[in-house]
Amino acid sequence: MALLKWNQEYELGLETIDKQHKQLFGIINELIIATEYTRTNTELLSIVERLESYATSHFGAEEKLFTQFGFTGRNEHEVEHAKFIDTVKYIRKQCKIIDAPMAPKMRDFLLSWLSHHILTKDKEYRQAM
Ligand SMILES: [Fe+2]
Ligand SMILES: [Fe+2]
Repeated sequence: MALLKWNQEYELGLETIDKQHKQLFGIINELIIATEYTRTNTELLSIVERLESYATSHFGAEEKLFTQFGFTGRNEHEVEHAKFIDTVKYIRKQCKIIDAPMAPKMRDFLLSWLSHHILTKDKEYRQAM
C-alpha cells in the first residue's frame, strides 16, 4: 500500500489541530510500513503506545476548544473519542497476547477513522465555530 500524503481535504484551518492530524498520518504510515515488513505485535507496541498518548492529547485539545466555543454537538463527538481510546487500549492488550499480526487491522482501523471522524465529525465542529 502506498504511503499516505497529507492533502487540503483534511485541513481544518486550525494550526494546532491540523498539526496533530498530520501526526496521525505519520503513525498510519508507520503502520503501512510495519504491515509491509510483517512486524510482530511486540514490535508494534511502541507505535500503539504512542498512538494512545497522541489520542489522549489530541482529543483533549479538541474538547478544550468545544468548551471555549460552546459546541452543542460535543457529547456525541466525545463519545467517538472515548470509543477510539477504548479500541486502542484493547489493541494494546491484544498485541501482548495474540500472535496474528495486528498491524494491518490497526492500519485499517485508522484509515476508517480518517474518513469517518476527521473528514466528517471534525469538519462538523469546525463549521459550528
Ligand atoms: Fe481530530
Ligand atoms: Fe474529534
